This record gives sequence, C-alpha cells and structure tokens, in this order.
Amino acid sequence: MSERIRYAPLAKRVVSAEEASLHIQDGMRVGMSGFTRAGDAKRVLHALANRLSTEPIRITLLTGASLGYDTDKVLAESGILTRRLPFQVDTTLRRKINAGEVMFVDQHLGETAEQLRSGSLPPVDIAVLEAVAITEQGHIVPTTSVGNSMIFAQQAKKIIVEINHAVPAELEGLHDLYQVGSESDRGPIAIRHPGDRIGAIAIPVDPSKIVAIVSTNHPDSPAKIEAPDVDTRLISQHLTKFFLDEVKQGRLTNSLMPLQAGIGAVANAVLSGFLDSPFEGLTMYSEVLQDSAFELIDAGKLLVASTSSITVSGLWYRKVMDNLERYRKHVVLRPQDVSNAAEVIRRLGVIGINTALEANIYGNVNSTHVNGTHMMNGIGGSGDFARNGRLAIFVTKSIAKDGDISSMVPMVPHVDTNEHDVDVLVTEQGIADLRASHPASERHSSSKTARTQATATRFTAIWNKRRRVEGKRHTCWSAHSPGIRPQGRRGRCDGERRSHQPGVRSFR
Ligand code: COA
Repeated sequence: MSERIRYAPLAKRVVSAEEASLHIQDGMRVGMSGFTRAGDAKRVLHALANRLSTEPIRITLLTGASLGYDTDKVLAESGILTRRLPFQVDTTLRRKINAGEVMFVDQHLGETAEQLRSGSLPPVDIAVLEAVAITEQGHIVPTTSVGNSMIFAQQAKKIIVEINHAVPAELEGLHDLYQVGSESDRGPIAIRHPGDRIGAIAIPVDPSKIVAIVSTNHPDSPAKIEAPDVDTRLISQHLTKFFLDEVKQGRLTNSLMPLQAGIGAVANAVLSGFLDSPFEGLTMYSEVLQDSAFELIDAGKLLVASTSSITVSGLWYRKVMDNLERYRKHVVLRPQDVSNAAEVIRRLGVIGINTALEANIYGNVNSTHVNGTHMMNGIGGSGDFARNGRLAIFVTKSIAKDGDISSMVPMVPHVDTNEHDVDVLVTEQGIADLRASHPASERHSSSKTARTQATATRFTAIWNKRRRVEGKRHTCWSAHSPGIRPQGRRGRCDGERRSHQPGVRSFR
C-alpha cells in the first residue's frame, strides 16, 4: 500500500468499506467519482446500502455521470436515494425516476461543477473518490475518469478514498487537473489544442480531510458496446461523405476539427467509420472515449484525444491498461467542467456528434424523454457540445423498437437541443444539412432533406398510433415551419392556429 499511499500519516486511515461508510449520515449530499461507468468508487456506497436494514438513511448522490458496478441499481433498489444527478443509465434507477420515487436532476454535464461553485446547488458534505494513489503531498490521483471529483474534493468536509489496485500505477500522469475558479475570479482556460496540459496531475486537497481509505481491486464495469450494424455503417458513410464535401468546399481540412462523440452504440460505430475514411491527423476534444477512439489511435489516424473518462469494453480496458506508456502521449483526462467548457469548445471549433432518441424535420432533438415524459438517461454533455461547437451533428437510426417507432417525427414531444443549435441530422436514410436553411422552403425542397422528410411522413402513422393522439390531422404547409396539425373546425391553417411552429396539439 505504501507506493499507493505516499503521504505517510494517512497509512493509519486504511479501514474496511463498512467502517468508511459510517462517515456517511442520513440526509447527506454525497459527491462520488465516476463518469460513464469509469473511475467510480466501487465499495463504500454498496456498504452504505447494506446499513439500510438496520438504520434509516437517505442521501442525495452527485457524480460525474453514470456509474458501473451496478451501484445505481443497488442504491435504487435499497431505497437509499432521494435525489440523483446529473446523469444515469441504469434500468432500475430509470424505473424509480419515472415512478417519481427518486428525484432526478438532468443537467448539462459541464454545468454541475459551475452550479456547485456558484451555490445554485448546495455543497456536497462528503466525497467518495476512486484513486490510483495518494501523492507525497496527500493529493489524490484519480483513475479512469475525473468527472466532478475536483469540485467534490474541494467542497466536502470529509473525503473517503478508494485506492483501486486493479488500475495500474502508470495511469498517474495522464490527468490534467485544472481548477476553473469562481466566475468572478477566473482567467481564460488556456487550452488552444486538445492535447494542451495546463493543470496538475493530482487533485490538491488538505490531507486532513481524508478520513478513510479503502482498498479495492476491481476493474471498471465494461462498456456495453455493440458492433456496428448495417444501419450504423450507413450513418457513418453518410457522415464521411458530408465531411469530404466540407473539405472540398474548403470549410474543413483533411484533419477536420477536434471531434467529440457521445456515448452509445451509434456514436461509437460512427467514429469507427473514420478508420476507413481518408481523414488523417485527427484530434478529439470529448468527454468520453469509447473503443473507437483507441482503434483510431492504433491506426495512426487519431493523434491526441482529450476526455473526462475512458469508457471501453472489457477487451479494450485490458489493452489500454496494459499499454499505458504508449497511450500516455495520446490521451489527456480532464475534469468535466473543462472537457465540456463552452469557452474551450468554441475556441477549438469542436465538431460534436451525438445521438438523438428522435428528431423532427426542423432540427429539434429529443435525447432524453421517451414519449416526451419518460426519462431515458439524461442530456449528458450533448447540449454542451451542440450549443458551443462549430458543427452540431445528431445521428439516429430512423426507426426504433423493431419498426414500431419512427425516430424522425413531425414534432418532437420534448426538446433537448433546439433547431437553432442543430446543424446536421443523419439517419441511415441520408443526411439533412440544416445550416442556413429556411424550414419551409429549403429544408423541404432540398433533395437531401427530402428523404428525411419522406421517412418522417412514412412513419407518421405509426407515430400517431403509438402516442394515442386522437382527432384528425392535416398538414399545414402555409406556416413558417410546416407540420402536421390537428384539424381545426374549418380544417384550415388560419387565424390563431397559424403559429411559428405548428405542431400536433390536443384537439379543442
Ligand atoms: N423512442 C423510444 N425509444 C427509443 C427511440 C425512440 N425514438 N430511439 C431509441 N430508443 C431506445 C432503443 O430502442 C434502445 O432501447 P433498449 O435499450 O431497450 O434496447 C435505447 O433507446 C438506446 O438506443 P440505441 O439505438 O441502442 O442507441 P444508443 O445506445 O446510441 O443510445 C441514446 C441512444 C439517445 C439513449 C443515448 O445516446 C443517450 O442517452 N444520449 C443522451 C446523452 C448524450 O448524448 N450524451 C452525449 C455525450 S456522452
């Protein structure tokens, strides 16, 4: 343990997970490491859940993003969670959120630390952080993600550290831990290239706040990454063609601009498609790196990748951990208020590629709410990148649930990223370039968007049935953004019924 705990006075703080969990009391706000299943503390919260059988405990849990190791499932089943933020992907927790049993605050991932700093969110009481090591100064070296760990460590009165021996000590040095500072006293975040390093390699803390250290030996839960299929390959091909055209038009060079790709099977497959593309010298400024990023590094296509987490399948986890010396010069791990900082994303001109649950023909994207009401995962970082990047691209298969649901719809029932931010929509059917176009004329007359429109129209019937919306509809083509609308008394788009964006409304 001494190599991992290099600040000698802390050696005596090593305890069991059960003992460490006693520092967490009923009503506390707990800040835990973990971002898209990577770098999450894996034992203390499980030990806490076990205490529920003998004492009533309820907590608010804040993390970077989703957790692995079934932690969200165990906590949700135990009933210990009152509030959870800012992102999750667990089925059991999702059910509890949608049943109103857990309050879920769905946030832009770049904003949680900002809101904690400004006091919009109350501070965390205690932090539980996974670490590779504690340095000679008593500072904390995170593992495979950074997430919100810096702000949690800063604010918490007590810190519990889980030293994970399954993570090689060589991970130390991969992080770039820059403190953004409060809004009134903040300089520019001086990142001018995705690989720039501007911070420390460990989280600075007052070591006397570290009240317990727990030893673990568990790799991150593997990401469930499905192999590319016919549709995702087609999406990837459309996107490659789009980028080739941008290069031809002189708007991009062959190394494009720094790329960001969201979580999920579709985004991973799309990025894998760059392997067979003519693009070279690529960079990434993202919040998560999936398998595809490491495939691109190995192929010599991706030079440097900035991220807040390494979220890979079991196979790639081993490969990456066994070859850290090789990947060190290609990968930088940052706090999520830096990886997702509007300022840096805008300065670098990031191209954001994220997945939509569904989108409408004007470019409004729903990433979070199935049927407009039921939370899926959360907006994650998609909004941070879409709003501030140079190009906001959303990808989705045009149909979901074995053909029962169209993902291209006349009107999305919930908007996460709106038409003003979305530049390009891609399905396996084709690409809709929405830049500088007028909703009624150009978007509809463009041959490229026609296919998208056709898809939307084709599946409108299914969509209507699925949502059980009653009443007859007709298409109103005379408005700014033509759409499917309920039929008025006179069956025309007139008077008060003509609006900026006519859509499906309840029948009056
Ligand atoms: N209506 C209802 N369900 C839909 C749907 C739609 N229009 N489109 C997709 N789904 C369902 C799928 O059927 C699948 O369900 P299952 O898990 O029961 O099989 C699930 O959503 C995931 O869809 P999938 O096609 O496998 O895509 P994905 O793994 O790429 O996930 C999102 C898609 C939108 C859920 C995911 O990308 C997400 O959570 N995005 C928001 C967060 C984000 O963008 N972060 C970006 C930075 S990391």
